[in-house]
Amino acid sequence: MNHLLKLSNLTADEMTHILDVADEYKRLHRAGNDPKDLQGKAVALMFGKHSTRTRTSLEVGIYQMGGLGTYLSTDDLQIARGEPIQDTARVLGRYYDAIVYRTFKQSDVEALAKYSGVPVISGMTDYAHPLQVLTDLMTVREHYGTLEGLRAGFVGDGYNMANSLIVGCLTMGMTLVMACPKGYRPSADVLYFARQYGEKFRLAEDPDEAARDADVLFTDVWTSMGMERETERRRRDFYGYTLDAARMALAKPGCMVQHPLPAHRGEEITDEVFEGHADEIFGEAENRLHVEKAVLGILLAGK
Ligand code: CP
Repeated sequence: MNHLLKLSNLTADEMTHILDVADEYKRLHRAGNDPKDLQGKAVALMFGKHSTRTRTSLEVGIYQMGGLGTYLSTDDLQIARGEPIQDTARVLGRYYDAIVYRTFKQSDVEALAKYSGVPVISGMTDYAHPLQVLTDLMTVREHYGTLEGLRAGFVGDGYNMANSLIVGCLTMGMTLVMACPKGYRPSADVLYFARQYGEKFRLAEDPDEAARDADVLFTDVWTSMGMERETERRRRDFYGYTLDAARMALAKPGCMVQHPLPAHRGEEITDEVFEGHADEIFGEAENRLHVEKAVLGILLAGK
């Protein structure tokens, strides 16, 4: 692995290795023994969208590893005044050992990787959210002890989380049923990727189909960052796609719920379901830290 831009660049062995390293960093952190694997290393944290979890967990994780993380809002960089991404890449690549980039266009993250000469990690784009889905896989594997053979359901927007979940779940041997309203399907290339897995993947419109017999149910907001002007239309289009108690009752007893956060209670998930699964959801948020340390440890310290 030279970069982490999207999950389809990773094999099952590479994903498993990330999860194994993340488990080990978590164990060592809890034992009060964080390895200083980033001593003398600096990581640029470039954000063109809001963030609570990704920014703070990276800053804390890099600190725990003995490195320096520099938060850079793209509003404050010359990018905001038109400096091309390839020039920004060639400058930052001369100062930093790695760059995390959260932005809108996947092509901008790919360009940063092409021109910077250092490992680039996607902090989320409109197309993919690889760090989040690796975290979800870690959290589900912690809970069940395995991923192979589990049945996952996703109810919601066929956007970046959906794209990365399809790749992550199928690569790791899970079955996935995804329910998205008409007009909100995942990316065509990801649906093409899923075809090789045959009946292990199904795209439905009925959210009950995604919930039925699930071991884990995923959802995400109906209106993602940058779509705020579509909020009312989306509320209408996603009506009936809420993860509520009736839908949870269709899943297997003890079914987990995963939400990348922030959550909009009363839209994609009811307060009752959210609070009933809060330990799983905030355990997932905690695991962002350990997965990000694992990706950095692999890219910069040969873990
Ligand atoms: N899940 C996630 O990426 O959270 P933030 O947007 O707060 O970083």
